[in-house]
Amino acid sequence: MQIGIIGAGQVARSFARTAIDAGHGIIFSNARGPETLASQVAEFGPLAAAGSLRDAVNQPIVLLAVPWPKVEEALRALPAWRDQILIDPTNAFHGGNPAGGLVDFQGDSSSERVAALASGARVVKALNTVFMTNFAKPPASGQLRRVAFLSGDSQDAKDTVADLLESFGFAPVDLGSLRDGGRIQAVGAPVAGHDFFVPWPAPRSFPAINGERKEVP
Ligand SMILES: NC(=O)c1ccc[n+]([C@@H]2O[C@H](COP(=O)([O-])OP(=O)(O)OC[C@H]3O[C@@H](n4cnc5c(N)ncnc54)[C@H](OP(=O)(O)O)[C@@H]3O)[C@@H](O)[C@H]2O)c1
Repeated sequence: MQIGIIGAGQVARSFARTAIDAGHGIIFSNARGPETLASQVAEFGPLAAAGSLRDAVNQPIVLLAVPWPKVEEALRALPAWRDQILIDPTNAFHGGNPAGGLVDFQGDSSSERVAALASGARVVKALNTVFMTNFAKPPASGQLRRVAFLSGDSQDAKDTVADLLESFGFAPVDLGSLRDGGRIQAVGAPVAGHDFFVPWPAPRSFPAINGERKEVP
């Protein structure tokens, strides 16, 4: 599968390495232009390329790998979305740094804000709960696989992202809608920052999570 990435920092690079190892193609992009990414891309071999932001979002799956304060600027610079999947791994820290504290969305999830800024994209919240230092490690350990949580409002998009994460070796777990799952995945909520493993094969979703709305503290 071809995946475009908006950003070329730590998340972009960790994701790209894992995706390329699993046989996928990557197009990195940033706001400064593809020529600034040439040496970085060379390290990733023939499945990686540098492109414009337009090139990146022309792919069927796009990863939004920018700090929270840059999300609006990055999304506003893009051409109209045409139903591509937008994976949102961002965490909404003021200043883009945990030291800045979390942005208060008054009960919404940060990914709902992302979806509002990316009208026409199918947004799937994923990978924000995993430290990239853990993401870069082998996801399988004996019979266990590292969990990758995801949420979103398009089941089809979630299935595609779950298939992708499974191809990386992860156990995808669907936490429900962008609103409810997104809040469960937010920093400070129960699953963020923990490194969960499950016996494999594992179910992708749990009726108790997805069947009814749960209030998240
Ligand atoms: N690091 C982790 O372990 C981790 C884990 C889970 C989730 N996250 C979340 O993932 C997101 C990315 O984190 P990161 O650690 O990868 O950040 P990072 O290393 O600071 O990289 C950010 C990237 O975004 C690019 N960028 C900035 N503004 C842009 C714009 N307007 N348009 C296009 N590209 C732009 C930067 O390009 P330039 O070099 O040109 O500025 C840079 O390549 C954050 O929201 C973070 O909270 C991080």
